[in-house]
Amino acid sequence: MSTRLFLRIVLCLATLPALVHAAVPEQESGKEIYGPCAACHGDLGQGGKRGEYPRLAGQRAAYIEYTLKKFRSRERINIPMFPYTQERELPDADIKVVAAYLASIQLPTKIPEFKPTDDALTRLLAMEKVMIIPKLEGDLENGKRLYQEECAYCHGVDGRGKTRFPMLVGQYTNYLQKQIAAYIKGERPHDKVADDEEEDDKSKPKAVKLGVLNRLTEKDIQDILAYITHLQDE
Ligand code: HEC
Ligand code: HEC
Repeated sequence: MSTRLFLRIVLCLATLPALVHAAVPEQESGKEIYGPCAACHGDLGQGGKRGEYPRLAGQRAAYIEYTLKKFRSRERINIPMFPYTQERELPDADIKVVAAYLASIQLPTKIPEFKPTDDALTRLLAMEKVMIIPKLEGDLENGKRLYQEECAYCHGVDGRGKTRFPMLVGQYTNYLQKQIAAYIKGERPHDKVADDEEEDDKSKPKAVKLGVLNRLTEKDIQDILAYITHLQDE
C-alpha cells in the first residue's frame, strides 16, 4: 500500500465521527464527495490522461454545477460520468459543495521556491500541485486579437472565466480542442445557451453573435488556443 493511500485511509477514518454530525466543514465534505471522482480527475482535480479527463481545479463553481446538471439530464453527453451524476449518487446539495471545493483548489504554474529547511515531503507535495500546460504554437498576435474580440466577453479578459462561463486558461489543450470540435458539429451547445438565458441582459454588447466558433477558421482556432496557453503565465 502506498503511503498516500495509507494516509488517506487514516484521514478518512479520522473524519468518520465528524461526519455523523451535520457540522462537517464544507471543505472536508467537498473532499469527501469528490472521492470517487478522483480516480479519473486526479487527487487535486488536475485531470488525467493528458486531458482525456479535464482539469477541474480552479474551474468556476457556477459552471461546474451547471455542467454536472447537464450531464445528468444528458443535454451534455458524457458516458463515463453519467452514472456518477445521478441524483442518488450526487444530489443537488452535493453538487454545490463539490463545485465550491473544486473551484477553491489552486494549482500554481511556476515551480515553487523552497527554503533550505523544507523537507522532501513538503517539496514533493508542493511539486505535485504545479500544473503547466505545454505552450502551443501559433500566431499569438492573431490569437490575442481574436480571443479578446470574440471570447473575452464571456470567458474573461484573462481567460479565467466569469460567473458560469468556464475558465479556459490552464485547461488541457486537447480537451479544449475536443470540445470545440463537438461545438462545431453541434453535439454540444455553446454560446447559444447563454444567449437564450440572457435575453434580458441589456449590458450585452451587440458584437456577441451566435455560433462564434463556427465562424472561425481552423488556423484562427489554433492561434486562439496558442494564446490561451500563453495566458497562463500572466
Ligand atoms: C470514469 C471517469 C470519470 C469519473 C469517475 C468522473 N468523471 Fe468527470 N469527466 C470524465 C470525462 C471523460 C470528462 C470529459 C467529457 C468530455 O470530453 O466532454 C469529464 C468531465 C467533467 C466535467 C466537465 C469539465 C468541463 O470543463 O466542462 C466536470 C465538472 C466533471 N467531469 C466533474 C466530475 C465530478 C464532480 C465527478 C465525481 C462525482 C466526476 N467528474 C467523475 C470522466 C469522469
Ligand atoms: C456568449 C458567450 C460566449 C462567448 C462569446 C464564447 N463562449 Fe465559449 N462557452 C460559453 C458557454 C456558456 C460555455 C459552456 C457551454 C455549455 O456547456 O453549455 C462555453 C464553453 C466553452 C468551451 C468548453 C470549456 C469546457 O471546460 O468544457 C470552450 C473550449 C470554449 N467555450 C471556447 C470559446 C472560444 C475559443 C471562444 C471565442 C472564439 C468562446 N468560447 C466564446 C460562452 C461563450
